[in-house]
Amino acid sequence: MKWFRDARYGMFIHWGLYAIPAGTYQGVEYPFGSEWIMKNARIPLAEYKKYAKQFNPTSFSAKDWVRLAVEAGMKYLVFTAKHHDGFAMYHSECADYNIVDATPFGRDVVRELAEECKKQGVVFCLYYSQYQDWEHPNGYGNDWDRDAIKKDFPIYFEQRVKPQIRELLTQYGPIGLLWFDTPYDMEIEYCRELVEYVHALQPACIINGRIGYYLGDYRQMGDNSIPAATFSCDWETPMTLNDTWGYKDYDQNFKSPADVIKMLVNVVSKNGNLLLNVGPDALGNIPEKSVEILREVGKWLKVNGESVYGTTLYPTLPYELDWGKFTYKDHKMYMHVFQWPITPYEILVYGFKTKVKKAYLLSDPKKMPLPVAQTFEIARDQHRLRVRLPEQQIDPIDTVVVLELDGEPEVYNT
Ligand code: GLC
Repeated sequence: MKWFRDARYGMFIHWGLYAIPAGTYQGVEYPFGSEWIMKNARIPLAEYKKYAKQFNPTSFSAKDWVRLAVEAGMKYLVFTAKHHDGFAMYHSECADYNIVDATPFGRDVVRELAEECKKQGVVFCLYYSQYQDWEHPNGYGNDWDRDAIKKDFPIYFEQRVKPQIRELLTQYGPIGLLWFDTPYDMEIEYCRELVEYVHALQPACIINGRIGYYLGDYRQMGDNSIPAATFSCDWETPMTLNDTWGYKDYDQNFKSPADVIKMLVNVVSKNGNLLLNVGPDALGNIPEKSVEILREVGKWLKVNGESVYGTTLYPTLPYELDWGKFTYKDHKMYMHVFQWPITPYEILVYGFKTKVKKAYLLSDPKKMPLPVAQTFEIARDQHRLRVRLPEQQIDPIDTVVVLELDGEPEVYNT
């Protein structure tokens, strides 16, 4: 899990046939994720398959996508190899319903992304919908085209899931993690068998929490949901940049760079990872707005990445900090100051016991010491740490102050 813990921040990419309808079918705009359009609009399979004939993303460039992830400061990339619609975005031998055999584009996107991630030093990971499959007669979930009760999951599991997982884990090099989804009421013996199958093929491949029954290597939080408290286990929040995973031209409700930076810091301050999504369009372009936001966050990470990457669990204070968030690594507490203090420009932290040897602005190459005072009020049994900041706010979104500690961090957690 070391690479996963160090990474803290990854790119999720939802791309498939659903980028063509892009949330609209027969003139009706459907809510929720556009990757669910086939189910939400109850599109007959024969109709939906016609999108494959149109799929020709001539602008697709794995190099550009991976370069964006690098510029954004994202250390891993999770790509939808097969989503709920059952369409494989790689050259699958066990199903000609795939991007190489069924589209005029005819290129293996998973292979191109795997090769680019290797070249550019991004950990390559794959999303795979292991239970829902709206194309295969025995996959779960298509209850509008065929009678739901006819599904025979064991057939689907043997004919499609295991062969495709074998293809993905033997033909595309090392896969950092497999991101399973919507296990619903899949029986535990299949989930266990899938875990063993993955471990037999690539022992180092991490499995996410949506394999089901807590059999994964880390806790998968709900979509766009950040836990209220710190979790000592490994965990990850998947997050959309707007309100859809797949591309939707009319969803312009994007989070700002400030929103993303504060969400990333919030997640990391609680020992989690943020997997932030982009949904490329039918031509293979990542929306310009998404690119802008990710680049802005990347600029902040270029200066402040030390306070995010490789950070670890620390004893949290039992009250909300009104100025921002803490993160921690190697005897350094990082104060993420979202709210600049008013005069005398001081931040006061109660209950922090460890001696602070030095405080300075992470963005200051000279590490000029900031005034620090630590007192203990015996009658109130209260530790007080004061850090004096410059009058002028340094970073309008999140200014990071480093506290070099004289030992492990200790807090008064009552
Ligand atoms: C939900 C959605 C799925 C999406 C996933 C991402 O499971 O059903 O479309 O891929 O969230 O977290």
